[in-house]
Amino acid sequence: MSILVNQQQFHLTNGKISYVFHVLKNAQLGHLYFGKALRPDRDYTHFEKYHNPTPASCHTYEDDPAFSLETIRQEYPVYGKGDFREPAILMSQEQKSVANFVYKSHDILEGKPPISGLPATYAASSEAETVLIVLEDVYSGVELHLSYTIFANEAVIARNSRVVNKSTTALSVERMMSLSIDLPDAEMDLLHLSGTWSRERHVKTRPLEQGIQSISSIRGASSHHHNPFLALKAKDATEHTGEVFGFQFVYSGNFLAQTEVDHYGVARVQLGIHPIGFEWNLAPGEAFQSPEAVMVYSGEGLNGMSQTFHQLYRNQLIREQWKTAERPVLINNWEATYFDFNEEKLIHFAKEAKELGVELFVLDDGWFGKRNDDRTSLGDWFVDREKLPAGIASLASKVKQAGLKFGLWFEPEMISVDSDLYREHPEWAVGVPEENYTLGRNQRVLDYTNPIVVDTIFERMRAIIQETDLDYIKWDMNRNITEAYSAGLDHQGEFFHRYILGVYDLYERLTSEFPNVLFESCAGGGGRFDPALLYYAPQAWASDDTDAVERLKIQYGTSMAYPIYSIGSHVSAVPNHQTLRSTPLSLRADVAYFGTFGYELDPSSLSNEEKEIVKEQIRRYKSFRPLVRDGSFIRLQSPFEGNETAWMIVSSDQKEAIVGWYKASSTPNPRTNQVLKLKGLHHDLAYQVESRTYYGDELMQNGLPLPIEFNGANEAFAERGGDFQSKVFYLKALY
Ligand code: GLA
Repeated sequence: MSILVNQQQFHLTNGKISYVFHVLKNAQLGHLYFGKALRPDRDYTHFEKYHNPTPASCHTYEDDPAFSLETIRQEYPVYGKGDFREPAILMSQEQKSVANFVYKSHDILEGKPPISGLPATYAASSEAETVLIVLEDVYSGVELHLSYTIFANEAVIARNSRVVNKSTTALSVERMMSLSIDLPDAEMDLLHLSGTWSRERHVKTRPLEQGIQSISSIRGASSHHHNPFLALKAKDATEHTGEVFGFQFVYSGNFLAQTEVDHYGVARVQLGIHPIGFEWNLAPGEAFQSPEAVMVYSGEGLNGMSQTFHQLYRNQLIREQWKTAERPVLINNWEATYFDFNEEKLIHFAKEAKELGVELFVLDDGWFGKRNDDRTSLGDWFVDREKLPAGIASLASKVKQAGLKFGLWFEPEMISVDSDLYREHPEWAVGVPEENYTLGRNQRVLDYTNPIVVDTIFERMRAIIQETDLDYIKWDMNRNITEAYSAGLDHQGEFFHRYILGVYDLYERLTSEFPNVLFESCAGGGGRFDPALLYYAPQAWASDDTDAVERLKIQYGTSMAYPIYSIGSHVSAVPNHQTLRSTPLSLRADVAYFGTFGYELDPSSLSNEEKEIVKEQIRRYKSFRPLVRDGSFIRLQSPFEGNETAWMIVSSDQKEAIVGWYKASSTPNPRTNQVLKLKGLHHDLAYQVESRTYYGDELMQNGLPLPIEFNGANEAFAERGGDFQSKVFYLKALY
């Protein structure tokens, strides 16, 4: 891996990718190339593409009408110098509205400097190299610091930007993207992960067109509706072949991710904090730091892109102790009891779960304050003595005596109007004074821009963690932010970002003081499933929708960018509480295996036969858990394209694999010789699959035989028909 500098041309390369940019003749930064690695010893200035001037274009030099910022590909464009596409940065300052950032200096560093106060990918000095470019606004002296990191082993560039007010007057930043890149060819499809509560991260694809196509959130959270991720896929790219560019914003708040296609078919991709609700004020000497954005190049289709994201997040984002630690099989009481429980019921629940092989018992909402429904007590993080008279420590120790780890649900960012905390500090709730506030799940949001609020919640959580010797926290966040206002802020345009900084501060303090507590993030299910939270919470509750058929889509979509070992996926009771659909226990487990496995049901409700099945499911998951953690996940068949879904995981030495196959509804008179063509195996290894042996090339070229289904006449297969079929195969190389 290296960063080569030649005549003000910067070439970041690691043998997999190249990223090339240079200082333009007007001293701004121009973009030259991002894609498959190019030879390092070349000047790529000729990649600059000038267009013939038209009567309508504006140009910089009288004697060079082709030098028009309107068409030149740039690294961090500004508005007002002839480029009429959307800029990466917008600032306003008294008596000045146009910025002109020109190259001043650069510095090359080993490794990757951390971004203070913000979660980001990290790298040891041998794992990455970073170039920091300093640009200066010729009019005001304001500096822009652009950071580019290339990793030794991944086809990824990580970027962030920082503006430093070196001028003598105050400055207001109105738009500040973390990344901007002008790709030369817009003949691509835009792929994004969108949906809503209970059907998060569905895969959506549409062709790029001249103009802006964007996804975003202005909800105060990265949102159920759009994930801060987009991919641009060449028209001929598939799951396994062709060029794909993947982009992701490492941030949990308001975001904008957009592609603007110009009149010459150049695609400008930008990711950053959403400019709506954002205005940051900088006195002379102050600086504003953007969050990180990462971009991936894949020459091997969408799967190639996903595997790079998975590797990046596993190796360079998830904190050290959770990279290799096995995630416990958990049981959560929410759908089993909702708010209706007492100590006896919970201990019984935990003991039964232990019998089944569960390792962690999670007590969800309702253990604190006087919370018998969702109208009360958020903020009162003291045990409810009516439900649990012996206290939370007593419950924790009994659960631990039963041989399980103990976890608790918190919703640390929220406050109920009916709570002691609100009665004491109504001013701690976000909202414009004297105005009606908008409700969401009967609760209000705590003002995390106020450090005293963050301190108070930290102290309360710390006390509970210590008292219970807690092993796990499910950190929920169930409503979006309205009436964004804090009395403590001079500039309300800073509210949303400062709020998220407060959330990161609390996460940072808790994870530093309690590194062995496993955090699972949650926001009404998957409303804040983003890489920034993965930095603190290595797993996330993917969706409140636990229906296995729906989960196929949710987990398939989530796998586009996130390692499957971060996807919280549980077996729940039937009829399913979200869809009222009844699916077999086998399907529910076969889907949940491909994530962090657990149960969301009352073990006492299981028949003896079902208990035996669950025991076997847990034993099975434990047997391939390291593969779920370390293996390469490969999507084979999309639930968005048909009735069947398939995916697999292969170990890095290709000696082991698991394959999941699912069929949502039955087919009349199905074919009997159906096969599934696998990927990623070793051609010459012989794999044992159940009682048979196949070579890797057979499984990939000819396919793995799927179960023979009932067709109305073949009585011998009468048990293998109907809707909701599934099968998980385990493959082990013999020789
Ligand atoms: C949210 C979560 C659920 C559960 C409830 C508790 O909806 O997503 O899993 O924890 O809150 O109120």
